[in-house]
Amino acid sequence: MDPIENLMIEHRVIERAIKLLEEAAYRVYSGETIDKSFFQELINFFREFTDKCHHGKEEASLFPKLELKGIPREGGPIGVMLVEHELGRSYVRAIKDSVEKYYSGKEEAKEDILENAVAYVRLLREHIFKEDNILFNMARAVLDSEDLKELSEEFEHIEVEKLGEGRHEELVSKIDKLEAELK
Ligand SMILES: [Fe+2]
Ligand SMILES: [Fe+2]
Repeated sequence: MDPIENLMIEHRVIERAIKLLEEAAYRVYSGETIDKSFFQELINFFREFTDKCHHGKEEASLFPKLELKGIPREGGPIGVMLVEHELGRSYVRAIKDSVEKYYSGKEEAKEDILENAVAYVRLLREHIFKEDNILFNMARAVLDSEDLKELSEEFEHIEVEKLGEGRHEELVSKIDKLEAELK
């Protein structure tokens, strides 16, 4: 599969996951009961699918290739994307901490869940928009068919190495399941 298309398809799955996080955080905030496991499964999704796999493909494979093709890291779009990935990781940690607090009986931590979830969702939506509409167009302009083939092979390798065989599909079905639960 075309590697840029592969990343864009993953963006669509990540968008479904952040919508679930946003919705669950608002529901908890307004007093509805949501199982702790719902948040735990989403947090695991963000760690495995979004971070290890998707950001892994970008950081270990796409971005270095783009740098070789002359797109600068420092002071350029790649540097910004890397900072945003790091910021995303700290929001996921903050969401996890506030979820732990809330479910151990600290009712007021529902505000932290909402605050961190909203910040993470906003960051990722804007990040994805920039990649889909700016960075990936730059990539298409500088990568030739040989580069694309190499990226595809590296992506397949990263999926198996970082997630394990079959795990990518499992994580996508996890989102189907969580969407059905939140109806
Ligand atoms: Fe990214
Ligand atoms: Fe991305």
